[in-house]
Amino acid sequence: MADIDEKTIGELVAQAKQSSKHAYSPYSNFPVGAAVLTTEGNIFTGCNVENASLGLTICAERNAIFHMVAEAQRQIVAVVVYTPTPTPSAPCGACRQVINEFGPSAQIISVCDGPDVLHMPLSELLPHAFGPIDLE
Ligand code: THU
Repeated sequence: MADIDEKTIGELVAQAKQSSKHAYSPYSNFPVGAAVLTTEGNIFTGCNVENASLGLTICAERNAIFHMVAEAQRQIVAVVVYTPTPTPSAPCGACRQVINEFGPSAQIISVCDGPDVLHMPLSELLPHAFGPIDLE
């Protein structure tokens, strides 16, 4: 697992936290913020955006990734997820699959308001993933 320096991780955490403040989560009251680091060294953020038609909700991680793609970047080095909770939450299954599309070797870091941090490669969260390589 490639190392990401502490300063960069601190910046990703700060931006994920900031993004969670923009979450639109009136139905779950579970705001989430995400920050994606690309190989170019840029950071893209996202928050969850819910909808009265509940299935249309988009998670913070996918919002951040789509933001990244819209800005013409496609290679994810790391994803930081922040929830204002006592324990950290790992990305949902749908987000794991979307992260795999652009960062099969990405590091996933989940932080919260408590001391615990989850930090592992995507390959541990989504082993034997189906991805672009399967369609070659
Ligand atoms: N949510 C995320 O934004 N990311 C995840 O990885 C898990 C769930 C959002 C979706 C919904 O708005 C709320 O959290 C509760 O599921």
